[in-house]
Amino acid sequence: MSNQFNESIPVRALDNTSSSATHQSESKTTGSALITSPPVVQHPRAKSFGVSIAVSSLATAWVEYGFAKDDLAFTAVASHHGLVAADDQALHIRVNHSDALPTDKPICYRVVAQPLSYQDAYNLQRGKQQSTPVYALRLPDPNAQSIRVISINDTHANTETVCSLHAQIEKLQPDLLIWNGDTCRDFNAEDAPNQIMLNPANDLKLAWAATRPLLFSNGNHDARGERAREAVKCFVSCPESTELPYNQALRFGPLALVTLDTGEDKPDRHPVFAGTAAYEPYREKQSTWLEGVLQQAMIKDAPFKVATAHIPLRGLEGQEDGTTLDGYARYSGFGAKLWLPQLKAAGFDAVISGHTHHPRHDTPTAEMPVHQFVGGGRELEQATLTLIDATLTHGKASMQIQVANLQNEVLFKQAF
Ligand SMILES: [Fe+2]
Repeated sequence: MSNQFNESIPVRALDNTSSSATHQSESKTTGSALITSPPVVQHPRAKSFGVSIAVSSLATAWVEYGFAKDDLAFTAVASHHGLVAADDQALHIRVNHSDALPTDKPICYRVVAQPLSYQDAYNLQRGKQQSTPVYALRLPDPNAQSIRVISINDTHANTETVCSLHAQIEKLQPDLLIWNGDTCRDFNAEDAPNQIMLNPANDLKLAWAATRPLLFSNGNHDARGERAREAVKCFVSCPESTELPYNQALRFGPLALVTLDTGEDKPDRHPVFAGTAAYEPYREKQSTWLEGVLQQAMIKDAPFKVATAHIPLRGLEGQEDGTTLDGYARYSGFGAKLWLPQLKAAGFDAVISGHTHHPRHDTPTAEMPVHQFVGGGRELEQATLTLIDATLTHGKASMQIQVANLQNEVLFKQAF
């Protein structure tokens, strides 16, 4: 794959042992792989970014990084209140650099994991370290002249669809990937969120978010099933708020991006949730957050503004909106009421959605002058990629949004 350096480099062990890390691909064939996903880069910020990996047993992990493939001079360790993080499913390491991270050259990094077991508090065993290959990460530039974003959604754990989308993504080389919800069918007992979310192609070589960041925008299925609470170990909270983990307001060149979490597709009081749904106050909180971010100059002054919401915010005549006990939301009545008027007032250009598995483009109306693009679906013939290209040339900003299927047919194309 592109931007990946495969040669081994010496490990800078944290524990002063001289053991070198076993390369991930070597252990894959032995069936003893500790690292069971490619790295997934999340939450890019000026001085920081996070990396998630899936693991097969209790382990700690760290990121070794630098600005040349043979000089990974810095180490970031996952820890919380002084205690180094350990988990048997997924680990997330936040890289907090002392200065602004470069956007004009790659950040070279690899993730190293090491098994951990306890006999008792003073008898800890550490196993052999394993590492990913070294990847070259490009962080999108907040001051870029152009930015390319691809949004995908509703893959519902269909490996074939994920692999085909992956191939397209590698061809189109976006600066940023958005996974706009519904990664799984549900997270039932037999469904491992760490594999579905971090290793969706079931192939460690297919790393769609190791060289570019991924923005996760939560879907209704991602919150379902007894293992749904493990999802936040994989797609972790944004650094600004654990209460609103999937709300981000980011600026990349001419484009402002805002992610919204529409939550479940039925009201909280619906009997199928058996008292486990609290999306109504959560959406209210997001509304207050949205009000604040829309006042920020980096969002307000952006030439183009795009929001993501898994469940569409604009509905069609006669569609159920998920606010009553009848059926389920074809569009989010709650989001339409709380957020859409704010997006309209702030001059948003478009909402990117999925959920329905039927592509459509809702063009602006006098009442709602915001485009809405709906795409995606589990089957190969349903899946789509939404491509957003925003450019600034000689002070003039332009944007194009295009929805295409896996047969390379352009379903919708809109110039701004
Ligand atoms: Fe959905």
